[in-house]
Amino acid sequence: MRTVDLIQKKRDGHELSTDEIKWLINGYVDGTVPDYQMSAFAMAVYFKGMSTREISDLTMAMVATGEQIDLSAIAGIKVDKHSTGGVGDKVTLILVPLVASFGVPVAKMSGRGLGHTGGTLDKLESIKGFQIEVSQEDFISQVQQAGLAVIGQSNNLVKADKLLYALRDVTATVDTIPLIASSVMSKKIAAGADAILLDVTVGEGAFMKNVEDARLLAQTMVDLGKAVGRKTVAVLTDMSQPVGTSIGNRLEILEALDILQGKGREDVTEFICELAQIMLGLAQVEKSLDEVRQHLQDGSALKKFEEMVLAQGGDLEDLYRPVQVEHQLPVYAEKSGYITALPAMEFGLFAMKLGAGRAVKTDELDYETGLVFHKKVGAAVVQGEQIATIYSNENISENMLTNFQKNVRIEDRVVKSKEIIEIVS
Ligand code: URA
Repeated sequence: MRTVDLIQKKRDGHELSTDEIKWLINGYVDGTVPDYQMSAFAMAVYFKGMSTREISDLTMAMVATGEQIDLSAIAGIKVDKHSTGGVGDKVTLILVPLVASFGVPVAKMSGRGLGHTGGTLDKLESIKGFQIEVSQEDFISQVQQAGLAVIGQSNNLVKADKLLYALRDVTATVDTIPLIASSVMSKKIAAGADAILLDVTVGEGAFMKNVEDARLLAQTMVDLGKAVGRKTVAVLTDMSQPVGTSIGNRLEILEALDILQGKGREDVTEFICELAQIMLGLAQVEKSLDEVRQHLQDGSALKKFEEMVLAQGGDLEDLYRPVQVEHQLPVYAEKSGYITALPAMEFGLFAMKLGAGRAVKTDELDYETGLVFHKKVGAAVVQGEQIATIYSNENISENMLTNFQKNVRIEDRVVKSKEIIEIVS
């Protein structure tokens, strides 16, 4: 086989065979297929797509390039959760302990943030002492004992995705359904859970900008999961504005703690309870929304979160410490009306510039900085009212402040936001 022939075949819109896909992926991982040919192939996929069979073959070829985690030593149905990326997305921090508080084991591997999106690992690492690098043995034993663990993805898992994702990131080939579906599902399949909840984000701050594309991505991933015997459900969720009220690592931990104590915003609390109900259902534990919410109210979910923090070396005193920054800058509404848009991408990039995120993988983070919105889409505001606070360790220029204000769209009409748009199963 020759790589150039496979690129040409895809470029001309033809289907690749199972063997051809395996050959290409294995060649890429062992270095015989160079980056420049793989980028050309990714771009051909971007324009010509892949059939369901090709996506499935690509996913399984990718799974085979690394180790597969065996969670069978953990009793019960193990559930996992994955989000396709978001701004202010602290859902995992609440959902994992909430589900675990019902006795359903959650063994989760998470990722880091890049660009306008945040990553759960960075948020957890803002807690003093918290370890995300845990051996497989310790990971399994923590889930056996505490019922939950959130750790960094093992370096040996899906080697093809590590290489390919980095390549896609710099060749404008990330936002294409076959490559996103195979990237996400290869990692989920290799991570070993019996059931998977996929949070497919839609909107300005997500890879999928419209519901039709998000639905197609969701269905593709659900079908991939089911084909290998994993119960899989996807939920399309709104990413046109940031999730909850905060963006920034430590700030999001603090918001998560509020939600875990039943003191969070109603909309985000409701949304997370709905996701928890679906995850519990995947583990055959049927609970009403009231029963789920009760575990936030009575402290059971918070207790689980604290257990996880302790098990992974985190300092409980530091967990509850407020952020420490040099500047807390209030932002006021420019006019009266209703907030109709808080573009997630813009605010994610704003937080990134404050040090809360990375422009490139090697950037150091400032865990303390970020943004808190006191008003979200749908809220009435009067001119001069405080709508947000910027937490920064550097002076904020007039220009940046004006930019922030301009991005808060205020109009004379009310826009309703909806966290869960659709469930795909
Ligand atoms: N998240 C992933 O893990 N992979 C993608 O390709 C996109 C989002």
